[in-house]
Formats: sequence, C-alpha cells, structure tokens
Amino acid sequence: MKLLPTLARGSSGRAEQMRILFVGFGNVGRTVARILTKERARFPGMGALDDLVVAGIVTRRGGSLACPEGIDLLGALESMETIGRFSEDMKGFCGMTGEEASAVLDYDVLVELSTLSIENRGEPASTHIRTALGRGCHAVSANKGPVAFSYRELSEIARITGREFLFETAVMDGAPVFNLCRSCLRGCSISAVDGILNSTTNYILGRMEEGADLPEAVKEAQKIGVAEADPGHDVDGWDASAKVAALANVILGGEITPFDVDRRGIGEVTCSEVREALRSGKRLKLICRAWKDEKGIHGKVGVEEISLDHPFSLVSGGGAVLRIHTDLMGPVIITQENPDLYDTAYGVLGDLIAIRQKA
Ligand SMILES: NC(=O)c1ccc[n+]([C@@H]2O[C@H](COP(=O)([O-])OP(=O)(O)OC[C@H]3O[C@@H](n4cnc5c(N)ncnc54)[C@H](OP(=O)(O)O)[C@@H]3O)[C@@H](O)[C@H]2O)c1
Repeated sequence: MKLLPTLARGSSGRAEQMRILFVGFGNVGRTVARILTKERARFPGMGALDDLVVAGIVTRRGGSLACPEGIDLLGALESMETIGRFSEDMKGFCGMTGEEASAVLDYDVLVELSTLSIENRGEPASTHIRTALGRGCHAVSANKGPVAFSYRELSEIARITGREFLFETAVMDGAPVFNLCRSCLRGCSISAVDGILNSTTNYILGRMEEGADLPEAVKEAQKIGVAEADPGHDVDGWDASAKVAALANVILGGEITPFDVDRRGIGEVTCSEVREALRSGKRLKLICRAWKDEKGIHGKVGVEEISLDHPFSLVSGGGAVLRIHTDLMGPVIITQENPDLYDTAYGVLGDLIAIRQKA
C-alpha cells in the first residue's frame, strides 16, 4: 500500500494547502463550490478552507478537470451553471473517471459526491473511497452508499492508514447525527435509533393529507425539486433503507446493507388512508428504525400511524427527525426543519474543516 505524503506541514507547524478531489459535481458539489467562491463573503466561518486547492473534479457525462496546481473552481462552477458541463477549452479538461482520478491524481482529501447506487451496492463510490484511503488520503462522502454497504471495510482501511473517513451528510444532511453520537454522547450505550429520514416521502404524505393523490403529490415534489426525476428510491423506501443501514453500521456497530432492512415504502398508501388516520388523531409517516437485541442488529422502514402529539408528527414538509435511544441519557432527539442544499453542503464543509483542523 503506497501512502501519499498528505497535508505537509510548513514551518508554522500548520498543515499547508489541502488538496481536494471532487468525484461528482451536481447539486451538492456546486453548492459547496458556490460557498467557497462567489458566496464566500456571506460565510465568515469558512476561513479554515481558504487555502484549499481543488486538484480535480470528475463527473460522469459533463467531463472532468485535473490540474496539479489547482483548477479554476469558479470557472468550473460557471461552466456547469451555463452550459451544464465543463467547457473543453478549460485548463485541465480531460475524460478521467472517478476510478482513474482517485488512483492517480495528487490530492489529500477525496470528496465523494456521486449518485447513490443501490443496484450496484454502493459502487463505484466505495471503490473511489477505498482507493483514496488506501493511498493515505482522507475521504469525505455525502453519498450514503459507501457507509450503507461498506462501512466496516472502509473504516478499517482508514484506521490502518491513519486517515479520516467522514460522512456527516449521509443522514439528515448537515445536521450533526454522527458527530453527536461520537463526540457528545461519549460513554452512553446506544441501543436503537428511529425517526423520519426521507424528506421526499414526508412531503408527499403531507400533501396527501391536504387532498392530493400519490401521483399528484409526487409530481409536485418533483416540480419544487424535493423529489428526483426518478422518485423510485424515495417512494419505495430505498433511500430510507440506505440511511437505516448507515446508522445501524456506524452507531450500533452492525454490518448490514439496505437489502437486510425490512422495507415497505409509501407506494401503496392511499389518500383515504392518510385522511382517515388524520380524522382519528394520527398522521401516517414513513418511519425508519434500527435497533440491536440479543439476536443482532435490525433495520426497518415502513409507514406507521403516529399520534398528533408525538414529536415525529411535528415534522412536516421536507423536515427530518432522529431519536437516539441511550442508556444514560434516555432518548435524545435531533430535528431538522426544511433543509436545503446549504444544509447538505455544510455537512461536507464541516467534515473538511474537521480534517483541516486535525492536520
Ligand atoms: N441533494 C441533497 O440534498 C443531498 C442530501 C444528502 C446527501 N446527498 C447525496 O450526495 C450525493 C450528491 O447529490 P447531488 O444532489 O449533488 O446529486 P446530483 O445532482 O445527481 O449529482 C451527482 C453528480 O455525480 C456525478 N456522478 C454520478 N455517477 C458518477 C460516477 N460513477 N463517476 C463520477 N461522477 C459521477 C454526476 O455526473 P453527471 O451529472 O455527469 O452524471 C453529477 O456530477 C448523492 O449521493 C446524494 O444521495 C444529497
């Protein structure tokens, strides 16, 4: 295993420039780029990342950029915003894939922002991270696939190479779920987590309470950008199952995948069921659960009736909530109200700052 010399230290003892490789430059990547360039003045807390150098950006269909002295991040953002791809006359334009770039470029931190693949069991994102960590680089992932399918293996490589594998964005965007469990609940034993973790289905169920039927509510969610063009991952509960697997693996010490989660989406829920529940003082919610018992670690995603005075009932629109069941602290609840792409981008930036500050 060849380790790259990462985050070399200057005479001040402070690590010099942090070199980043982005794999994926969609909604999240572009919001990160916007915060670091044209909107930088709005976010004074981002100072720790001012000397960040972007060594490369890889996309699937929009071309890639790689340049040892750093690519033009603002130019890359503007090119994507105007023509939907990198312009071929940009410095460093190339056709590198994520596998190639993570294996050959000179970078300190891989930022994995490609699409979640359930069908390919988290690949190729897990390979990008495996390669980066194996070369002695850190990895930050907003993509939940690697955490849901390969957490045990990837965290072991990170341990051996002494690098960080961080993924705060993978569940509840930038809300500090993993940081909370790791850093603020030290000494507590966590036996279970439950909550509402898929904002698209929460929005759809809310619209159904107001009278829309499922196809109509899905269309509206797509129109306002809450649901993707292919909403199947959300409606069928796959996105929620990936989050349950990620939580079970990281927080409960499990080794499960989304395929091990007992999963039922909202595809068969009717408008009259939603309205009937409401009439009897309940709301239908897609509830995610992970728990451990003497038989092992379990995960479940399914529609449940929740009474109106339950804290989960208060989460409407695109919000999310997670309850963490501990021995010493009782249940601790973290909620998130109507997150947007800035919340998601913050999760990535917060992880980068954590790595920067440790260097
Ligand atoms: N959006 C959110 O609010 C949010 C919240 C939490 C977590 N996440 C996760 O963060 C990740 C990024 O989300 P997003 O909204 O930015 O997605 P997106 O807009 O669909 O962008 C995905 C990016 O990844 C690239 N890509 C896909 N497969 C690739 C591959 N095999 N190799 C290299 N590049 C590849 C795409 O390139 P092309 O466009 O050329 O195909 C695109 O640049 C996803 O895993 C998502 O689940 C998103």
